[in-house]
Amino acid sequence: MAFLEVQNLTKTFGGLRANDSISFSLEREELIGLIGPNGAGKTTLFNCICGHHPVTSGRIIFDGQDVTALKAHAMARLGIGRTFQVYAATGDLTVLEKVMVGCFLHTRSRSKARACAEEILGDLKLFDLSDYLVSELPVAAQKRVVMAMALGTQPRLLLLDEVAAGLNTPEIEEIMASIRHVNKDRGVTVILIEHVMEMVMKVSERIIVLDYGAKIAEGPPEVIAKDSKVIKAYLGERYAKEHGTIDHRSSINDQNQIR
Ligand SMILES: Nc1ncnc2c1ncn2[C@@H]1O[C@H](COP(=O)(O)OP(=O)(O)O)[C@@H](O)[C@H]1O
Ligand SMILES: [Mg+2]
Repeated sequence: MAFLEVQNLTKTFGGLRANDSISFSLEREELIGLIGPNGAGKTTLFNCICGHHPVTSGRIIFDGQDVTALKAHAMARLGIGRTFQVYAATGDLTVLEKVMVGCFLHTRSRSKARACAEEILGDLKLFDLSDYLVSELPVAAQKRVVMAMALGTQPRLLLLDEVAAGLNTPEIEEIMASIRHVNKDRGVTVILIEHVMEMVMKVSERIIVLDYGAKIAEGPPEVIAKDSKVIKAYLGERYAKEHGTIDHRSSINDQNQIR
């Protein structure tokens, strides 16, 4: 059985179907990308998988266990960790303390939580920033701290929501390297929501595309880049032209934020 199985997951908000009967599965230690236009339902899907939102219908099976009805805290204990898209670097905690917060999920000991946080900060090359307030750091460092915070809960499945948003090319390379490292060397399974196509196409083994709440495509990056439905709904003419994947049969829009 797959590591994560999402079966016909539907989430409605009043009359809006934010997730419309989405099904997919994920193998242990895979790294997959989740893309689609703004409002497609990507963050909602994360919120359902991590127990933040109750699903309207459908099932979520994680590591052989039906976790559909579990709340966020129980999901985190089982090993589902996530970052939040809107992250305010507020409060007066240092980087070390922020990462320790997650570590306290598995221990009550302050020294153990500290050791756990220091290991993660060292591993993500953030150790030198331990004593800074998160709000004092440049955005690129804050994004890596956000990942470190999520790792504090010791996830086996990590849901990353737009961690490269607002970064420049070298910073994107750097966070991409961190994500690969977390996946390959720490053995964490990853689902990555990302609008930066160069990044998502490069790091993902497989990509799932949402549009208006529904899954419209799934496959390897090179197949997704040529899919006329995906070009029409999301990638747009510019991306397809630049990558030589344009499909002249589709009517194309170019509304997207490809950088
Ligand atoms: N808590 C909520 N209450 C009501 N509507 C919501 C809520 N969260 C998301 N939505 C709506 O669900 C749709 C999908 O949103 P979202 O999952 O944030 O999309 P994405 O992350 O792909 O941009 C949008 O129309 C959004 O306005
Ligand atoms: Mg979102």
